[in-house]
Amino acid sequence: MSAPVLILLGPPGAGKGTQARMLEEEFGLVQLSTGDMLRAAVAAGTDAGRAAKAVMEAGALVSDEIVLAILKDRMAQPDVARGIILDGFPRTDGQAAALDALLAGAGQKVTAAVSLEVDDEAMVGRVSGRYTCAGCGEGYHDEFKRPASAGHCDKCGSTAFKRRADDNAETVRERLKAYHAQTAPLIAYYDTKGVLERIDAMGPIAAVRDALAGIVGRVAA
Ligand code: AP5
Repeated sequence: MSAPVLILLGPPGAGKGTQARMLEEEFGLVQLSTGDMLRAAVAAGTDAGRAAKAVMEAGALVSDEIVLAILKDRMAQPDVARGIILDGFPRTDGQAAALDALLAGAGQKVTAAVSLEVDDEAMVGRVSGRYTCAGCGEGYHDEFKRPASAGHCDKCGSTAFKRRADDNAETVRERLKAYHAQTAPLIAYYDTKGVLERIDAMGPIAAVRDALAGIVGRVAA
């Protein structure tokens, strides 16, 4: 069996990043987050990053051209041979078609696309309360996922944390609109291909993780 290609679909705050990092640790798959790649490009001041910055801060989608260029570079790295979890990609019809073509070129296809199903209004609270460790990137939440020892990252012990520029209630609502207009139609696209799985992602992080691990264990075995 070729290496698994898993897609996590869901609106901002659905838990894509949280769950992808846990699956990476448990199953040895590689998390590919286009949001993280774009934020790295913005921080590095590359041409792609300069073009993406204002678009991201407005809560809209960055152009397929920029996103695909960044993703293709990353997928050319040898570690993706272990299998991948795509977090935040694809987000448009064009990106889904480009992914299919890229995988077909390597004799692969999407193993499963998991839709994390949530209520929009709850996502505003989830995203507005999110922060990450500045040292290792571990994600936290003001209410739902606090460090075990206040002010110290559970993973690396760092005392520095940061919040994303686009994690305010107004921008989250724009991101939710973009999700429903451009990304949610991909749920039907993957259903038609017979690879769609749905998970209720409103429960606690551990319950969502158990449901996802069950799917990954089944399709990636
Ligand atoms: P991106 O970085 O992909 O952000 P997003 O899709 O908006 O998703 P988030 O990171 O906000 O949410 P998540 O689902 O990962 O939730 P998380 O696990 O952190 O994209 C940002 C921007 O980049 C886009 O707006 C766009 O401009 C651009 N972009 C990126 N990819 C692109 C693409 N392919 N094409 C075009 N543009 C692109 O969880 C959120 C919080 O909730 C955390 O604090 C967490 O601890 C908590 N939490 C998680 N699960 C639960 C739970 N079950 N219960 C309670 N709390 C929970």
